[in-house]
Amino acid sequence: MNIKQLLSEKVLAAMIAAGLPEDTNPAVSISNRANFGDYQANGVMGAAKKLKTNPRELASKVLEHLDLNGIADNIELAGPGFINIHLDKAWLAQQLTKISKDEYLGVSQRGSSANDKVQTVVVDYSAPNLAKEMHVGHLRSTIIGDAVVRALEFRGDKVIRQNHMGDWGTQFGMLLAHLSDKLQANEVAETALADLENFYREAKVRFDEEEGFADRARDYVVKLQGGDADCAKLWQQFIDISITHSEEIYQKLNVTLSRDDIMGESAYNPDLPVVIDELMTKGIAVEDQGAKVVFIDEMANKDGEPSVFIVQKSGGGYLYATTDLSACRYRTDKLNADRIVIFTDARQALHFKQVELVARKAGFLPENVGYDHCPFGMMMGDDGKPFKTRTGGTIKLAELLDEAIVRAKEVISEKNPDYDQETLNEISRKVGIGAVKFADLSKNRTSDYIFNWKTMLSFEGATAPYLQYAYSRIQSIFTKADFNRNDDGNIITIIEPQEKALALKLLQLEDVIDAVVSECTPNLLCNYLYELASLYMSFYEACPILKEGISSETKQSRLALCLLISKTLKQGLDVLGIDVMDRM
Ligand code: ARG
Repeated sequence: MNIKQLLSEKVLAAMIAAGLPEDTNPAVSISNRANFGDYQANGVMGAAKKLKTNPRELASKVLEHLDLNGIADNIELAGPGFINIHLDKAWLAQQLTKISKDEYLGVSQRGSSANDKVQTVVVDYSAPNLAKEMHVGHLRSTIIGDAVVRALEFRGDKVIRQNHMGDWGTQFGMLLAHLSDKLQANEVAETALADLENFYREAKVRFDEEEGFADRARDYVVKLQGGDADCAKLWQQFIDISITHSEEIYQKLNVTLSRDDIMGESAYNPDLPVVIDELMTKGIAVEDQGAKVVFIDEMANKDGEPSVFIVQKSGGGYLYATTDLSACRYRTDKLNADRIVIFTDARQALHFKQVELVARKAGFLPENVGYDHCPFGMMMGDDGKPFKTRTGGTIKLAELLDEAIVRAKEVISEKNPDYDQETLNEISRKVGIGAVKFADLSKNRTSDYIFNWKTMLSFEGATAPYLQYAYSRIQSIFTKADFNRNDDGNIITIIEPQEKALALKLLQLEDVIDAVVSECTPNLLCNYLYELASLYMSFYEACPILKEGISSETKQSRLALCLLISKTLKQGLDVLGIDVMDRM
């Protein structure tokens, strides 16, 4: 159900009937003020300008043809040519009753109509480097990517997750040399690699300072690339343990990535010489000072110098860039992607622009396949500087999440001193993790944001606890009213303005999901859920449910409305990867 779309079709039909061309934009949008109607169509203005006619006259002609019988109870012409549409309460109530019985809450599924086909969307997200521990920098990629994946799936697209883990590269030489020594000294790999950060530091110190170690490290790189079996075994051991560390975090974060989704850099290794060959044969890459390079004229700087994209180093080594070109081809040829979406921090924007251009030229990425690099800003500390530990180190994600749970526990136990430990732990986990995720997801993706424990754990404002609390309050009403949540025979009626406002909001879910999947902006869903919860709070104040003297129809209708609100909150939070609970 998409009211905006429905009205757009109706208004366009009227515009065509009034003599306007078929490609006219009706420009229907949600009104931001109630006295401008619920929806507005502002397209007449643009059309009149093109035709050089009087917009108001044109608008009244369009109005003559606009048939919103049964849908709107009032349509007005306003200002120079705006069309304000007031929707009919009975029609809205009917739509609500309908979507409340739908498992997708009225969000139409891809494939259900000819012009809304199922797409195969490859989503590349999280992608930590396995040489080190996951840190806060990977948090954003992981949770924004996962929210977009869930939104795509909720809408009915086919999603293929790709965890492009950094499991290859020269730094593995020193790590493997160091690991091999530890195993020689009878250490167990799991113990040696329990703290990857430490392990990396130790290896680096040896690499920089210990006589002969750097040579051994380089030797390992050669052996690894040459396919030496012992070396491969050692590498596999390292990778497995590091992946397990990431998996613990995914689980804690309630993220849908699994081992099957891993397609690390190493997987592309055999294809890299083929990629270079093709680029050379097609004359796209050229030899330059021993290296193989693509000079990209389309991205020349203001002095006309082309952008330089190295695809093979002079020593023959391949780069991050080469792997991403190979990934483009794999994703279109083998995974049949219609669209590729990649989440990394904004510093990689240039890299992906270059990858896209070169891949398109080389035919690795056909014109009809979308390629969206979705950059995000940095997470900052209270001091406005990149988020670090007090001593300036990188903050480990695992520690940050544990701290969130501890802090949530303080807040929850203060509010509910009599919860038993088990209940308290369960709620704190959901609230703590939810708070971190919502705080991040609700920000404009591309800007930096300040990480602040206090605001994210507050029960006021746009936070996870506020939404979770709204949800659990509704559940307690059901308990008090002895209302059967599985009974979908209830009919919703709309009387009060608060009920109408809720109806309009509830019917906008598809519109919001569509924006989230096309722009990869979960913050729009966060805003939506916050507005929905706030409208519920005003409704709850204004429209009594359990009070004496309320007719049983009104009571049933309001309870049914509450049920739809709570289902929408739950579903929406689920798309964000945030859990709800019946009490908190
Ligand atoms: N491992 C990279 C990093 O930590 C991110 C990889 C993103 N995906 C890709 N196809 N390059 O920055």
